[in-house]
Amino acid sequence: MTYTPLTDSHLDALRQIVGADRLSTRSADLDLHARDQSFHEPRPPDVVLWPETTAEVSAIVSFANAQRIPVTAWGAGSSLEGNPIPVHGGILLDFTRMNKVLNVRAEDFQVDVQPGVTRIELNKQLARFGLFFPPDPGADATIGGMVANNSSGIKTIKYGATKDNVLRLEVVKADGEVIQVGSRARKDSSGYDLLHLFVGSEGTLGLITEATLKLRPLPDKFSAVLAAFPDIESVIQTVVDIVGMGLDPSALEFLDSETAHALNLDKNLGLVEAPHVLMEFNGSSDADGVAEARSICEANGATDIRTATGQEERNKLWQARHHTYETLLRLHPGKAQQIVDVCVPISHYPEIVAFCAQLMAEKQLLGYKFGHAGDGNLHMNIIYDQSNPAEFALVKSVNALIVEHAIDLEGTSTGEHGTGIGKRTFALKQHGAAINTMRLIKNTLDPNGILNPGKIFLD
Ligand code: LAC
Ligand code: ZN
Repeated sequence: MTYTPLTDSHLDALRQIVGADRLSTRSADLDLHARDQSFHEPRPPDVVLWPETTAEVSAIVSFANAQRIPVTAWGAGSSLEGNPIPVHGGILLDFTRMNKVLNVRAEDFQVDVQPGVTRIELNKQLARFGLFFPPDPGADATIGGMVANNSSGIKTIKYGATKDNVLRLEVVKADGEVIQVGSRARKDSSGYDLLHLFVGSEGTLGLITEATLKLRPLPDKFSAVLAAFPDIESVIQTVVDIVGMGLDPSALEFLDSETAHALNLDKNLGLVEAPHVLMEFNGSSDADGVAEARSICEANGATDIRTATGQEERNKLWQARHHTYETLLRLHPGKAQQIVDVCVPISHYPEIVAFCAQLMAEKQLLGYKFGHAGDGNLHMNIIYDQSNPAEFALVKSVNALIVEHAIDLEGTSTGEHGTGIGKRTFALKQHGAAINTMRLIKNTLDPNGILNPGKIFLD
């Protein structure tokens, strides 16, 4: 694809749509939209626009399409795979001004929102209705970004990923047409499932300008169990037993011994430096799940078990997980981190964890393994020196080996961080001929390739 370089006359036309004060070519604004939280190389857009209405988004996109100018959507910039980096420059649409909670329909357990509202702000506004939107990727992402990326995180085991919690979207297509996909009905068997085509499409098929989300009652009973085990096999047996017993955890997380060590240094938690399982229950009483989980942990050889009942105690225990990513950043100032994100069927979790551990030892790299074990989703933060190209190349090759192994184990190259830039190379291995069907869809919906170019597919 070739794109048209942005000219002053393009900028004049864009000013006609949003006004002069919601358009910027100042380097401070461009630089703020050049990178997400990943290690991927920054690239500033040529102009940042802050639309306020669907009509404005439609007018911008239809202009850009006619002129062959790339358009990339931006939420909070918290992505971890370069998903919103405007690698071909052009127009960046920052959705932070479209951040309204439009309509809470508590009796339907639904809310209509604009894409720029953040998860934490939304849940703050929903709390007074006793409701919440469960997907929790850790970061305070925008809902638009979460839908575009199909984010998930620690609550997926109970509530599903974002895709399981979206009912309807308003989407601006590449030609500027505005369509509604899905519906406000909880069940819908009508036509093709376009809703789930747009969810997770990373802004490459259309831009989300409104979403109807499913809500759940806010839990008021909390308990948590944190247990250390001699090996990863007993960790996974525990995970399987917890789910198999029907205990319905709202989180089921894994931390390896290196991560336990890091948390001890940063938070003085005094954890045994061994693999851990961390789980949470929101049952009908504060004690729900604790006794059963404890006996499962004991039966699987747990060497240390901590339990918490009630929200306050639970919050203390959860320090271990909620700030893992920030802890690792803090412990290695000046170093870069590559975040591995793969997902495999649970029975293969011990194998992928062992594979990562062996690779780290072999290549003499430091990697912290943790993840959403209940979903088979593993992360590993590999610490490296960004100023050392040989080390960077080594880390990239190690990540590739892990991803390929996960695919060989009938898993996926990404459980939740998306394809973005970094996972494109594995798309063919993972999807085979289906990648051609994906390209057909992309070419049909965005024939000029203006929507977030350089993502999902290799150029
Ligand atoms: C987490 C992010 C890295 O699980 O996905 O903390
Ligand atoms: Zn995660």
